[in-house]
Amino acid sequence: MTPTPIILDCDPGHDDAIAILLAVASPELDLRAVTTVSGNQTLDKTTNNALRVLELAGRTDIPVYAGADAPFVRQRDVAAHVHGESGLDGPDLPRPSESPQAEHAVEFLAELYRGAEKPVLVATGPLTNVGLLFATHADPRPERIVLMGGAIGEGNRTPAAEFNIWADPEAAQRVFAEGLDTTMIGLDVTHRALIKDEHTERMRGAGRVGKIVAELMDFYARFHKRRYTDLDGSPMHDPVCIAHLLDPTLMAVRDAFIEVDCTTGPSWGRTNVDWRGREHCGAPNAKVGLDIDGPRFAELIVERISSLG
Ligand code: BDR
Ligand code: CA
Repeated sequence: MTPTPIILDCDPGHDDAIAILLAVASPELDLRAVTTVSGNQTLDKTTNNALRVLELAGRTDIPVYAGADAPFVRQRDVAAHVHGESGLDGPDLPRPSESPQAEHAVEFLAELYRGAEKPVLVATGPLTNVGLLFATHADPRPERIVLMGGAIGEGNRTPAAEFNIWADPEAAQRVFAEGLDTTMIGLDVTHRALIKDEHTERMRGAGRVGKIVAELMDFYARFHKRRYTDLDGSPMHDPVCIAHLLDPTLMAVRDAFIEVDCTTGPSWGRTNVDWRGREHCGAPNAKVGLDIDGPRFAELIVERISSLG
């Protein structure tokens, strides 16, 4: 079987880090490059974190390209309350031996998608890099985008909006408006993709990488246990994108029209999702994740992370 080539555009971030590790632990996928964006922390930190995670995985052959350090028009606002000052607080991660590539992430993506091969673009941070690619280059496009962001129902950064879309709504709207084969995996799904303490403990006992992932989970779970008392674990938002590529039967999807609230009112960054053909809504421009087999997803995470030793 030829592995599916992918690019991961991310803002590590605890769950982004686990998405990177899940990708490199999966022979079905070929992670060609990691591009970084400001989101959970500032760009210098998310880029350094991507390098540290690849160092941990022994995959310093995968290049890292740094992208946008601020949203299209909004003020930058990071998620230190979830991911800490470094963006990956908790364990002692190795220092990177590699540096980011000299080329800007958006130029790298433009050059890549001008070519015949079109790796799946997995986006797990604010959509600034992807939106910039579309806004500044007429032709180069991925054929398929799988992104973590948005919600049909309740948000997390605000009652209305999920963090990645809230952080750069104009970029997100630019991406949905492009009408490519786009799958939005929002909180309706990821709040059912939970890693519980029992999963963390199994990974802790599974080797060097498993122990570090468990320590990442220890930090990440503190916030979720405090705020999401109704959840029996911590949502593994970003790894769901990778899991969806590994096993499409894990998650139910539906065609939908998705539009982002780009106003400055209390609902900015909300993803308005319609699949009923309502007046003033357009034809479907994306697929939206509806539900996931949470226990099977959690087993996949534990099994693949444990395989890294
Ligand atoms: C998203 O926001 C970030 O904090 C996570 O890394 C994830 O991509 C969840 O709302
Ligand atoms: Ca993220």
